[in-house]
Amino acid sequence: MGTFRPSPVVIIPSTHMLPKAVLLASLVGSGLATVGQFEQCGGIGYTGDTVCATGFVCTILNDFFFQCLLPGVGTSTVSSSSTSTVSSSTSKSTTTTSSTTTSSPPSATGFVTTSGTKFMLNGAKYTLFGSNAYWPALLGYSSTEIDQAFADIVGSGATTVRTMGFNEVTSANGIYFHLWNGKNATVNTGANGLGALDVLVASAKAHGIRLIIALTNNWSDFGGMDVYTSQLLGSGQPHDAFYTNPTVIAAYKTYIQAVVSRYVNEPTVMAWELANEPRCAGTNTIASAACNTTTITTWSADISAFIKSIDKNHLVAIGDEGFFNQPGNPDFVYQGTLGVDFAANMKISTIDFGTFHASSFPSFAMYPDSWGESANDVAWGSQWINDHAAIMTSQNKPVIMEEYGLTSSTRNTTYATWYSTVLSSGLTGDLIWQAGSVFANGPTPSDGYSIYPTDPVYALMKSHAAALKARG
Ligand SMILES: *[C@@H]1O[C@H](CO)[C@@H](O)[C@H](O)[C@H]1NC(C)=O
Ligand SMILES: *[C@@H]1O[C@H](CO)[C@@H](O)[C@H](O)[C@H]1NC(C)=O
Ligand SMILES: *[C@@H]1O[C@H](CO)[C@@H](O)[C@H](O)[C@H]1NC(C)=O
Repeated sequence: MGTFRPSPVVIIPSTHMLPKAVLLASLVGSGLATVGQFEQCGGIGYTGDTVCATGFVCTILNDFFFQCLLPGVGTSTVSSSSTSTVSSSTSKSTTTTSSTTTSSPPSATGFVTTSGTKFMLNGAKYTLFGSNAYWPALLGYSSTEIDQAFADIVGSGATTVRTMGFNEVTSANGIYFHLWNGKNATVNTGANGLGALDVLVASAKAHGIRLIIALTNNWSDFGGMDVYTSQLLGSGQPHDAFYTNPTVIAAYKTYIQAVVSRYVNEPTVMAWELANEPRCAGTNTIASAACNTTTITTWSADISAFIKSIDKNHLVAIGDEGFFNQPGNPDFVYQGTLGVDFAANMKISTIDFGTFHASSFPSFAMYPDSWGESANDVAWGSQWINDHAAIMTSQNKPVIMEEYGLTSSTRNTTYATWYSTVLSSGLTGDLIWQAGSVFANGPTPSDGYSIYPTDPVYALMKSHAAALKARG
C-alpha cells in the first residue's frame, strides 16, 4: 500500500543489552582532507582518497566500505596512518545492541535462496505465501502481542511476512529507527529502535516465518526518502534527489549498513528490499524533469550491489510496484512515466527476484476500490499477474505479487480468481496487504484491507497456501 498510518505509539521499556563496538583513532581536523561527509574513504578494493574533510572521521562500516562521518556517529574508525588496515585495538567502547541476531537459531536454519523461478530452502522448494504487516515493530506492541500476531499469520498458511525496517524521525519520540538532527543522522539501536525490530524477528523465528524487510519508503509514512533529502540538502528538493545525490545515497548506505549488518547471519530474514514502492515522485515532493526509469534502475543496481557487498546471505529485491515501461501503452501503469521499468530491473544481477503491487493510485486496478476500477478488478488483476509471470519466465527469476488488497465485501471472490491466476501462471508466490489480529487491548490497525482471523478471506488464504505448497 502506498500509505499506512500508525496508531498512537506505545514506548517499550528499555531492557536490551547493548553490545560493544570499537572506536579507533580519528582523523578529525586533518588538514589533508578531500573526502566529504558520507563519501567513501577506504575499504578493500577502494583506491580513492582516504582523508576525510575537517570535522569528519573515516569510519569502518565493513571491510569493503569506510565512510566519512561525524565523530561518534559510527562505531569504529580508521587510524590516520593506515586506512587500509582495520585495527582491532580498542581505545574506547561505545554501546549499541544485540539480541536475536547471534548464534543458535531455534527454528530458522538455512537461508532462503533462488533456483530459476523458485525459492529454495535447505534443498527443497520454499513456498512463498503470506502477508504484509508493517505494524508489529513500529507501533510498540508487546512481545506477547507480536507472538499472537505471528500465530494468527501462521494460521492463514503463511510462510513469509513483509514488514518495514525504517522509521525516519526528526525528533526522538516513541519508536524510531533513524533520528535526524540536520545532517547528523543517528541509528537508534535501543529497545525503542532496532531493538523493536529484534523482537519482531525473534517472534517470526519462533513461529517459523521468514521476513522480507524494506529499508526505506517512497511515501512519507514513517519518514521515508524525503526526510533524507530535506535534512541533507534542504527543503524543496525533487523527490528523486534520493536516487541521484551522492550525499543522500551515501547516507542511505550508512543506514542500510546498520540494519543489514545487524541481521547478516540471521536466517529468519529472507530478503532485503531497497524501498517500499520507489517512484520518481514523492508524497510531498515532485520529480525533477530528469527522472525517468533509468534513474531508478541505476539506483537499484547500485544499492543492491552495496547490500550484496556486505551481506552474502540474504536475497535482495527492489520492493517496487512492478510498473512496465512501454511508451504508448494506453494504461498509465504500463507507460513508464512513474519511473519504474519492471523488465529492465529484473535484469539487474544483484536483484534476486521481482515484485509487483498494488499501489494507491486512483486508476490502478489492484486496489480498485480506492481507484474506481472495481468493475474491472478481476480481469485487470489477472492480466497484471500474467504479464509479470511472463517476465518471471523470460528472466528465470522468482516474481511475487507482494501486495494486493481490496476493501469490498466481495473481495473473497476476486481474490479467489487472482489466486487461481497465480497458480495457472506459475507465479512464484504472493503476500496479501495485510495481516490483522485482535489483541486483548483491541485490534491491530484496520486500513480497510486488514484480514483478521474471522474474515472469510482468512480461510481462503489457507486453501490457497495449501495449493501453492502442493504445486511442484
Ligand atoms: C548527533 O546526534 C546524536 C543523537 O541526537 C547526538 O548524541 C550526537 O552528539 C550528535 N553528534 C554530533 C556530532 O552532533
Ligand atoms: C533517461 O534520461 C537519460 C538522460 O536524459 C537518458 O540518457 C536515458 O536514455 C533516459 N532513459 C529512458 C529509459 O528513457
Ligand atoms: C465469500 O464469503 C462469503 C461469506 O461472507 C461466502 O458466502 C462465500 O462463499 C465466499 N466466497 C469465496 C469464493 O470464498
